[in-house]
Amino acid sequence: ATILVINGPNLNMLGRREPEIYGTETLSDVIEGLLELADEYNVRLFDFQSNAEHEIVERIHQAMDDGTNYIIINPAAFTHTSVAIRDALATINVPFIEVHLSNIHKREAFRSHSYFSDLADGVIAGLGTKGYQLAFEAAIDKLED
Ligand code: DQA
Repeated sequence: ATILVINGPNLNMLGRREPEIYGTETLSDVIEGLLELADEYNVRLFDFQSNAEHEIVERIHQAMDDGTNYIIINPAAFTHTSVAIRDALATINVPFIEVHLSNIHKREAFRSHSYFSDLADGVIAGLGTKGYQLAFEAAIDKLED
């Protein structure tokens, strides 16, 4: 099986970006951890980060034909703005879990609405980088069903 991990804008700055909110681990640390898990579970892991909405839309389209069975996505700021990325996920019809490092429900009001949550298999927020591992494990369970 193949799991695609997508991270949206500013997550390339993880570790240096508002560490009091997002922690000190970098995105490479997170992806390395997931690659180890992928090895353990014998699945293929694709990793994609972009700050550009259209690149994320196009990467999601590719997932229709590249063997991706499951997506873990942190759309970052696009969570609250992007009908286009939402529609891309609906287009390819690959199941996904939405992840946020911070608890978006305990921050500014504009962060509490997500264009993704009603399409997602599940949503994890507020558990920091651990959320990606938990999403990975849940994805494995779903793929085994
Ligand atoms: C985020 C939360 C979003 O509101 C914010 O714009 C991000 C990161 C999170 O992981 O907590 O960039 O998705």
